[in-house]
Amino acid sequence: MMSERLAGKKAFITGGASGLGVAIARMFVEQGAQVAITDIDLPGASKIAAELNSIRQGSASAFAHDVAREDQWISALEQANEAMGGISILVNNAGIGVMASVEDESLDNFKRVMDVDVDSVFLGCKHAMKYLRQNQPGSIINMSSIAGLYAAGSMAAYNAAKAAVWLLSKSVALHCASSGYEIRSNSIHPVFIRTPILDGISEALGIESDAERDKMLARGIPMGRIGEPEDVAYAAVFLASDESKFITGIELKIDGGMSAQ
Ligand SMILES: NC(=O)c1ccc[n+]([C@@H]2O[C@H](COP(=O)([O-])OP(=O)(O)OC[C@H]3O[C@@H](n4cnc5c(N)ncnc54)[C@H](O)[C@@H]3O)[C@@H](O)[C@H]2O)c1
Repeated sequence: MMSERLAGKKAFITGGASGLGVAIARMFVEQGAQVAITDIDLPGASKIAAELNSIRQGSASAFAHDVAREDQWISALEQANEAMGGISILVNNAGIGVMASVEDESLDNFKRVMDVDVDSVFLGCKHAMKYLRQNQPGSIINMSSIAGLYAAGSMAAYNAAKAAVWLLSKSVALHCASSGYEIRSNSIHPVFIRTPILDGISEALGIESDAERDKMLARGIPMGRIGEPEDVAYAAVFLASDESKFITGIELKIDGGMSAQ
């Protein structure tokens, strides 16, 4: 029998056409939520929504949405609110990863990473708030990274962007708490997880086989492997559910012990 840890929840999930967004949307639906999946890749998002509707009819809808654009945030939220009859969970998941040092990175690329990885989270929290306020209790889940807490010489823009998401989430948490909203805001910090975003690392390192790449990435992880998308989705279910009703402003690391070293 399907368990219902998210029964009655209405989640807006960005970057839902691939990787972690797909795993989160699927697990949310399995746990009884309705989901609005948004992505710049509308055909991809629509395909996932159709798949989820075959698990439970009416559980998913898909919308075209560039998270770096304020006008598109406003219209995607409006459409999702209409489709689901409210929004109680925001998952700011869409993001891009690039590898370059401070010397090699161009200002244009740096700004693009900030637009997609940071402006997106600011715009999402800002514009979703009115819907979350109407559908309390609410939960905001922002996808940072272990790279938002620990730096690498080859990740200048990504480190800066994901660190910004980390403290922005806490600022949102404190604002909600002091305003008396029953809306929580937390960030998730995964280490390497097996999704298409790792293809960029393969390219940067000139590694052709995924198995070889994963083995190399796993070397710094005490548990000896990279993560699977469901490892992150389980954490998102917990933070989205009322089980975490006294948890706000935290950074939840999903890193196989990497940060314990
Ligand atoms: N996979 C990992 O190892 C890992 C680790 C830590 C953090 N993260 C973070 O998790 C999130 C999801 O990453 P993923 O691994 O699933 O990557 P992914 O590349 O598989 O998926 C990212 C999705 O975001 C969408 N997207 C990109 N730019 C967008 C934009 N401007 N507007 C809307 N959608 C856009 C893409 O179309 C894609 O569907 C990202 O924020 C990433 O930084 C991933």
